[in-house]
Amino acid sequence: MEESSLLSAILDHRDALASVAEFLRILAGICWTLNYFSMLRTSRKDKIPSTGIFPLCNDIGWEFIYAFIYPTASAHWEGGVRVWFLVHCIVIIFIIKYAHNEWDHFPLIQRNLYFLYGVVTIGFAIGQYSFAREVGPDLGFFYGGVLCQTLASLGPIAQILSRNSTRGASLLTWLLRAIATFGGFIKLTIYYLTGNAAGPWFESPMCKFYIGLTLVLDFTYPICYYVIQRQELANAQKEKKEKSK
Ligand SMILES: *[C@@H]1O[C@H](CO)[C@@H](O)[C@H](O)[C@H]1NC(C)=O
Repeated sequence: MEESSLLSAILDHRDALASVAEFLRILAGICWTLNYFSMLRTSRKDKIPSTGIFPLCNDIGWEFIYAFIYPTASAHWEGGVRVWFLVHCIVIIFIIKYAHNEWDHFPLIQRNLYFLYGVVTIGFAIGQYSFAREVGPDLGFFYGGVLCQTLASLGPIAQILSRNSTRGASLLTWLLRAIATFGGFIKLTIYYLTGNAAGPWFESPMCKFYIGLTLVLDFTYPICYYVIQRQELANAQKEKKEKSK
């Protein structure tokens, strides 16, 4: 009974929901793009990469495959993947430039950064392509994107914890990504409820796991950020006091 009234309420507001979904689709696209620019800004400001090698190279690999090899699998993004690919190519050049500053303790890597980033990107592209061949481009686009999302959420946590510093980290980058992600989740939920699902969603155990994982990771990041920032502030204050003694 309850379910059928929910269903009829959804059907009654179909048009309104469709425009909310359309708004969220555009919002998510804009926020993803701004998130890349925010990465660029942070990297420039702090002179170290503001994203890890795995999320970045996997994103570019996935974008290359769905911008050029299977463009129809990403039709509902209307060329968005190509724009992201282009933006990411600019991002990776900046990141490699600043990655030099992070590898003083390991000259072999420092000397071969272009090669290393290139090989990892090609490796991920081959992996994404193989996956698309195995499960089909539609599902490949979706779950390949899930891997991008997971690494994008996990990478900054690993980076800030291993650096023990907010240098190269940015809450704005996180916020833009979180808005894009959760806007995207609501959009997919509307598609699912109104029967327009373009891929798997709540009926899929793997999708439920993915939603839960992303929620946990994206709520963890700002906590890590604040804890580390507090340490830094406490340390700076201590140093100031010692100096004035
Ligand atoms: C992390 O940074 C804080 C200062 O911001 C410092 O007090 C602490 O010792 C550092 N921890 C490690 C393991 O380097």
